[in-house]
Amino acid sequence: MSVQYQAIGWNRQKRIYDLLLVSGVLLYLALFVGVGALLYPTATAETLLIRGFGSLALLLLTVILCIGPLCRLDTGFLPLLYNRRHLGVTTFLVALVHGVFSIVQFHALGDVSPLVSLFISNTRFDSLANFPFQALGFFALIILFVMAATSHDFWLHNLSAPAWKRIHMLVYWAYALIVAHVILGALQSDTNVVLAVFLGVGVAGVSTLHLLAGAKERRTDRLKAQSAAEGFVQVCRVSEIPEKHARIVSAQGERIAVFHYDGKVSAVSNVCRHQNGPLGEGRIVDGCITCPWHGYQYAPDSGASPPPFTDKVATFQTKVVDGIVLVHPCPHPPGTRLEPSRTAAALVGAKA
Ligand code: HEM
Ligand code: FES
Repeated sequence: MSVQYQAIGWNRQKRIYDLLLVSGVLLYLALFVGVGALLYPTATAETLLIRGFGSLALLLLTVILCIGPLCRLDTGFLPLLYNRRHLGVTTFLVALVHGVFSIVQFHALGDVSPLVSLFISNTRFDSLANFPFQALGFFALIILFVMAATSHDFWLHNLSAPAWKRIHMLVYWAYALIVAHVILGALQSDTNVVLAVFLGVGVAGVSTLHLLAGAKERRTDRLKAQSAAEGFVQVCRVSEIPEKHARIVSAQGERIAVFHYDGKVSAVSNVCRHQNGPLGEGRIVDGCITCPWHGYQYAPDSGASPPPFTDKVATFQTKVVDGIVLVHPCPHPPGTRLEPSRTAAALVGAKA
């Protein structure tokens, strides 16, 4: 079997992320155990640690599940997505400590193996109050393990992206199992209001964010389909065109230079009037598209050279839908001014 993948180096941003993550984990555990010991002086250290690690694993998993929809709603959250796998592995490790501590605490002293005891000590599947909730936690832990074990890029490249994605969608099963684990376990044995609120807010937050992101995606798909029906063609994401530069596209026999500048997008013919130089390989200087060959200039919105020059190139209608640039390949007569499309960044700036 040939193995082809390129390891992604550890960079400064990842180190800062990991440092913050480890500090957050330690701070949470210290606070949980410290405050717990003050509020419940009779609670043993083992109980506080089991509860601290369990609730932290649930918190981390809830955050992980919120990151995906948050990024679809606002690209400002993307830095969280790039490092989400570290969060996933940390969640598994924290949940593992909770699970192992629980098994040792509740199943290690019998005459059967602790793992066997986990499944046979309580078989009251017909009772809500006494349901064997620990088994649910065990299955969730297995899913978290499979996800953590296959989280490295090595597996992404060798399993193929669709297979990898299918495995990682199991996270929703893990979350459902854990919600049931807590409702049928800790919330049956004692009325912990904080835990109940924490769980309720988490489930409501995860569900609401997924519904909002789904609605936004459907809206975007509708706009894209409508634009395609009107004849627009997709160029790329706005972020893929560096500021004051262009992306060149070919559509219906036209070569079009799509420029991104000052929160706006405009498109003109790629062919310079002087000697057919490639305008899209130039950049915007002093507000004008500047040909890379001999410096002829054109306004990006009208394709007209600044006075006293009179050269003009054709312009093309553009659109920006959810950060994606679209252009209509039908040329407007040279020098026709078309309103530039605004990028999301420009719209946010205008509202502020
Ligand atoms: C082998 C797997 C697991 C076992 C044996 C297990 C066992 C337990 C037990 C015995 C409790 C009750 C503790 C008490 O009330 O003092 C508990 C509570 C809890 N477990 Fe698990 N668990 C497992 C996996 C998980 C996983 C994978 C998660 C989350 C990712 C999780 C999250 C929780 C939470 C949030 C609580 C409530 C903590 C609290 O009372 O503050 N458990 N678990
Ligand atoms: S070809 Fe564009 S300036 Fe000469």
